[in-house]
Amino acid sequence: MTSTQPEIQPKPQTETMTQAPTHLKRLILTGFMGAGKSTIGRLLAARIGWNFLDLDAHLESRTNATIPQLFEQHGEARFRRLESTALASALGYSNIVLALGGGTPEDLTNRLLLEQTPATFTIFLDAPFPTLFDRCMLQEIARPVLTDPAAAQLRFERRHPLYRRMAGLTIATSDQTPTQTVEALLLGLPKPQTQTPHSRT
Ligand code: S3P
Repeated sequence: MTSTQPEIQPKPQTETMTQAPTHLKRLILTGFMGAGKSTIGRLLAARIGWNFLDLDAHLESRTNATIPQLFEQHGEARFRRLESTALASALGYSNIVLALGGGTPEDLTNRLLLEQTPATFTIFLDAPFPTLFDRCMLQEIARPVLTDPAAAQLRFERRHPLYRRMAGLTIATSDQTPTQTVEALLLGLPKPQTQTPHSRT
């Protein structure tokens, strides 16, 4: 079994580089299919000098099969179990921007794993369902769970509160370019807690 190495992002010019958050080791991007998790993830990683990993790509490389093949040959339940083990493996990396699959947060174990991994901060890239669906239709990515649009909308409605709840930051992406989204995201990251000296009595 092989595993994907995180993608080394081209280092930007120093003036456009932003100091990576020193108290964090992993930035996680969540959201429905078409939210821009991979596009924003690569831009963000390059901007802060971290590496980028796409969970679907990590899973494909670990199983030596494509996502549609995994669905077709083993069914969705098995795909989800493989996705969970790929997530646990991906969270072993540091200084990484990780794009989840759209369905990763549906599994409680995955949400707990993300919540309990230290120095890990999750960002939800939000947009309305019709926008996301249209974006997906323009992309050449085979997504088995999009074959039935009504069922996909139901998945969106079920997942939306989970995305919101698990994220420390939500960014509305519909009216923003990827670069603007990265700017908003960097501004919204939590600041390191400053140690206040104990007051003397
Ligand atoms: C899925 C989303 C896909 C991929 C798989 C299932 C989902 O990832 O994991 O096709 O259930 O939403 P992207 O969100 O990266 O397309």
